Amino acid sequence: MKDPKKPGGEPLKVAVAGLGTVGAGVLKLLAANRATIAARAGREIVVTAVSARNRDKDRGVSLDGVAWFDDPVAMAKEADADVIVELVGGSNGPAKASVEAAIDAGRAVVTANKALLAHHGSALAARAEAKATPLAFEAAVAGGIPVVKGLKDGLAANRIDRVVGILNGTCNYILTTMRETGRDFDDVLADAQALGYAEADPSFDIDGIDAAHKLAILTSLAFGTEIDFGNVHVEGIRHITALDISYAEELGYRIKLLGIARRTDTGIEQRVHPCMVPKASAIASVEGVYNAVIVEGDAVGQVAFRGRGAGEGPTASAVVADLIDIAAGRASAPPLGVPAALQAKAEPAQMAEHIGSYYVRLSVVDKPGVFAAIATALGAEDVSMESVLQHGRHPDGPVAVVLTIHETTEGAFMRALDRMRHVDGVLDQPRAIRIEAV
Ligand code: HSE
Repeated sequence: MKDPKKPGGEPLKVAVAGLGTVGAGVLKLLAANRATIAARAGREIVVTAVSARNRDKDRGVSLDGVAWFDDPVAMAKEADADVIVELVGGSNGPAKASVEAAIDAGRAVVTANKALLAHHGSALAARAEAKATPLAFEAAVAGGIPVVKGLKDGLAANRIDRVVGILNGTCNYILTTMRETGRDFDDVLADAQALGYAEADPSFDIDGIDAAHKLAILTSLAFGTEIDFGNVHVEGIRHITALDISYAEELGYRIKLLGIARRTDTGIEQRVHPCMVPKASAIASVEGVYNAVIVEGDAVGQVAFRGRGAGEGPTASAVVADLIDIAAGRASAPPLGVPAALQAKAEPAQMAEHIGSYYVRLSVVDKPGVFAAIATALGAEDVSMESVLQHGRHPDGPVAVVLTIHETTEGAFMRALDRMRHVDGVLDQPRAIRIEAV
């Protein structure tokens, strides 16, 4: 019997679960670039079935002749389709059930679902391998940027040592707008939501979870390890103030929410948190809703990807690229680059052993001796100061003092921070931001 997943003239039949912005975008892109896509795929790609919650909603696409399913899991089992495109979202529920049902039925799967892959990606990859069916997910990481294929294919010869990314457009938009306008966080968040880039639950964006989902997938692709979302150190951007952003400017930095995966002597470091990066660095100039990923390989050196990480066009571009690969019979298996049986469990590096530089902002009483006590607190943990900044004078009142700290271990820095908090004359919890060389 002819294998429908192999090229050879017959159309590739596709069922799409989830007809939101991205789902409708996929249908529009398949129609708009039909001839180009067919030429590259070696055959037509046709949508034969869809599933969504509301049948009556006008999505600006024709569904004539397309089978409708209320239940994506039923569609994954029963539709007349070679491929199931999962755009339902969520790490469990119908998204997971429909992907599993599709794999078990021997159908190829394309998904944009980073939460699903962060939590269950290694198990799903093993399941797809066992069925010898493609599981493709270019759209799950950094939207339109082809970084999944970049790591799996283009950079496959390299030992990768570090991946650094701006992986959440909502956070990058918020931080950029705060810097450009001097407005504070809450005010700008509302704008970002109105732009339609934010997750259904915006805390996934601003608390760093969305970026951590994507980082966990990139880590696996980069290091050949099992996806290990549980060991990503995650901090979001809620506590970043307009004041920190202006001090960063003064010190020659920009603040970015970065996802960083790094091979260290003690294991794999995975962290998502706000960072100060040198203004002159390439990543500092990635602004607004743009995403960027920088990969460092032993043979290739540094490779930078930059582009739109969300939205209808960029995400549909990635989904359809996966469909073209499947239609052309070149959807590279295994899904995570390394066969599941050969994937090592990641040995997580401990954050306390992370070595880095730091920015600290303290609110202190402006009186003699406070600064000496702060310096003593740092010295007690063998932590060395690089610079100190205080503007203005407010005798016996609160003033902001900003320190930058030379490279030290995170453990020593955190102990020094605790000591500083307890110095007589230091008001409030000191604010710290890691400085990252990119
Ligand atoms: N909420 C995500 C972002 C969208 O802002 O980047 C794509 O994952």
